[in-house]
Amino acid sequence: MAKAKLQTLRGMYDLLPETSAHADHLIATFKRVVEAAGYGRIETPILEDTSLFVRGVGNETDVVAKELYSFTDRSDNSVSLRPEGTAGIVRAYIEHGMVSLPQPVRLYSVGPYFRYDRPQAGRQRQFNQLSVEIFGEVAPSVDAQAIILAERYFRQLGLDGVTLQLNSIGDANCRPAYRKALVEYLSENSSKLAEIDRERIKTNPLRVLDSKEAKTKAVLAHVPQTLNYLCADCQKHFAGVLEYLDALEVAYELNPLMVRGLDYYNRTVFEFYGQREGAQASLGGGGRYDTLVETLGGTPTPAFGFGIGLERLLLEAEAAGSLPQPDTGKSVYIVSIGEPARMASFKLIEELLNANIAATGSVDRDSIGGQLARASKLGVPYAVIMGQKEVQEGTVLLRDMSNTAQESLPLNGVIKELSKRFS
Ligand code: HAM
Repeated sequence: MAKAKLQTLRGMYDLLPETSAHADHLIATFKRVVEAAGYGRIETPILEDTSLFVRGVGNETDVVAKELYSFTDRSDNSVSLRPEGTAGIVRAYIEHGMVSLPQPVRLYSVGPYFRYDRPQAGRQRQFNQLSVEIFGEVAPSVDAQAIILAERYFRQLGLDGVTLQLNSIGDANCRPAYRKALVEYLSENSSKLAEIDRERIKTNPLRVLDSKEAKTKAVLAHVPQTLNYLCADCQKHFAGVLEYLDALEVAYELNPLMVRGLDYYNRTVFEFYGQREGAQASLGGGGRYDTLVETLGGTPTPAFGFGIGLERLLLEAEAAGSLPQPDTGKSVYIVSIGEPARMASFKLIEELLNANIAATGSVDRDSIGGQLARASKLGVPYAVIMGQKEVQEGTVLLRDMSNTAQESLPLNGVIKELSKRFS
């Protein structure tokens, strides 16, 4: 019987060299932008106690109720692959007593998350996020600074077409009145709602607001809006956020139906959208979560954060043509011809690498034509050619790949010459 072919699980993928170079560029730019703004890196475990996500993200959210990868470990504990990063970072903030550090505490993180979602372009079951969290500051300037940080990041990547949508969903003070009005409206119109949204009226009515169901969308045209139910403090806070964004002329659109899919948010919520045709939902999003630290057992601490999907960002940057070509400007390819050059070229590659000069080459194969074609394909500026004559004379041929000019150099001077040309 034929053995089943082994392959990646559905919704998971291998990061191959060409794409990983692009991903590294997005990550390096992210680190530069956030570190300049005073964020320090935190990485929490991928596997956590399932109760962290149930308590932190919410039992009725899709990511916990439907998409969590959970299993019982060998000690009978229920553990889960993290579906998002905020709950774990809040746990770490509490566990390491970060509340006693000077506030605000600014953290960033880069890593994989897992959701048993329906895979499609831009939606995987394992995906990566670039995220930031800020603890200990309730002022609206923090919300605006974080949003502007994300904007700056997109701009530095050359993505000028990213748009921002904002909303405020109130807090524990004003949410109940809004929720009541929403439930009333949805109940009155329940026969016109999609089945799944009819169920949500009881479990998580706010989630009906960002329903993708056509039937529901028609009902939402006249739904009560969170912004009309904000208490005075929430109103003032949101006005403050908008004032800061306006001061820096950050463009945004108010989206009264945006609630986000995770339960911990209050007040400001936002999402970024790319320009890619058929883009799978948002490039990134986040908001304020002033009660999560307390919910997970810590001292009440206001907080704000966002996450950007690395895979969606890659698709966006690719479509915008803003990914850099690999830099081969300072590397060399060693072409070796025949048995006499085999050992000499083998040694030269290692000596170049020891001198921190990027070098590759074929030691004992291929024709000279094949080797030069390979050098050309790699885009290296120079090839070093070693044949029988060169080995006997203790020389090499240095070939300028841009114009094919070749010059003879002593073998023991080639490292110095290349260092000079690359400096
Ligand atoms: P989220 O909106 O669930 O927020 O995810 C953030 C981003 O991760 C999304 O905008 C999207 O780009 C990406 N993403 C989510 N699910 C998938 C998927 N299945 N495949 C590919 N990309 C995906 C959070 O997770 C919050 N923890 C963000 C946050 C941080 N809020 C406050 N602090």
